[in-house]
Amino acid sequence: MKVLVTGGAGYIGGTAVSMLLDAGYSVNVLDDCSTGHADSVDPRATFFNESLLNASAVHNAVAGVDAVLHFSAKSLVGESVSKPDIYWETNVSGTRILLDAMHSASIKKIVFSSTAATYGEPKEIPITEESITNPTNPYGASKLAVDYMITAQAHAYGLAAISLRYFNVAGALKTSRGWQTERHNPETHLIPNVLRATPENPLKVFGEDWPTADGTCIRDYVHVVDLIRAHISALDVATPSTHEIINLGSGGGYSVKEVIASAEKSLGRSVPYLSAPRRAGDPAVLIADISKASRLLSWKPELDLDAMVSDAWKSFSE
Ligand code: UFG
Repeated sequence: MKVLVTGGAGYIGGTAVSMLLDAGYSVNVLDDCSTGHADSVDPRATFFNESLLNASAVHNAVAGVDAVLHFSAKSLVGESVSKPDIYWETNVSGTRILLDAMHSASIKKIVFSSTAATYGEPKEIPITEESITNPTNPYGASKLAVDYMITAQAHAYGLAAISLRYFNVAGALKTSRGWQTERHNPETHLIPNVLRATPENPLKVFGEDWPTADGTCIRDYVHVVDLIRAHISALDVATPSTHEIINLGSGGGYSVKEVIASAEKSLGRSVPYLSAPRRAGDPAVLIADISKASRLLSWKPELDLDAMVSDAWKSFSE
């Protein structure tokens, strides 16, 4: 089976490329390296170093594939508030071009990277796929718009589709070429920032006055390797004319201070941090209900927070 991975030069897409190739798939990659890195693309893949907004490049990249894993997107909440236009353009218009190219080429299967940001400030914890979607930023809104486009495409044209709504992805994959890991610039995510904190440049903990046991925000972390295993299952179970939405997390939550404690175990030293004001747009607690993933994908996460932190640390330091 041949698949196109959009965003295959990025952290999560690049991990998918390596795991798909190891599982025996043939892989095309489409990525313009605007945030990804060409040297992250597994050399066994066929690489189209082109933009998702370039319709003729997308047309070439989908030729001969059986399915698409669509990771390519702008994905920073804060940036989406200050530059919403690029979120609508890349995430919505780009996906429109991809869906049109797939339709023209009669490609009938897609697995889409959606996000917990589609739910917005949750009314209930854990968050199920039936929870209200009320995104609080253009990033979440753009991903929700794509979910609507895909539903319509499934009903109109028989597309087999699964949107996977990620919570907080962490960890790294060890490959024969070295670690496939996150290389964001600027880095905004908690775990890399915890691991790179120094006395001169301490971690900023965004709020210690949240309504949680230790006052810091709680998030649901899932290892990138577990996450991609779920994508490979999704390719198997996607059904024509059906668009399933499935949460991917661990089903449990850790506070910022618990993440720091886990990092201190991996590092064997304390993590320097200071208290900073709350970050705009952060909800206090996000935890996924993952029973639908377990039911439909026969999936459960196997790697815990300590494994995520330890793999991330090895990937940055080895
Ligand atoms: N945090 C800090 N200091 C930092 C970085 C983060 O205290 O330097 C805190 C945040 O305030 C938050 C938690 O750590 O409470 C996790 O923050 P991240 O930036 O790592 O992740 P987010 O929960 O903000 O966002 C992630 C993805 C989004 C996605 C969202 C869905 O980055 O793309 O999960 O839940 F939309």
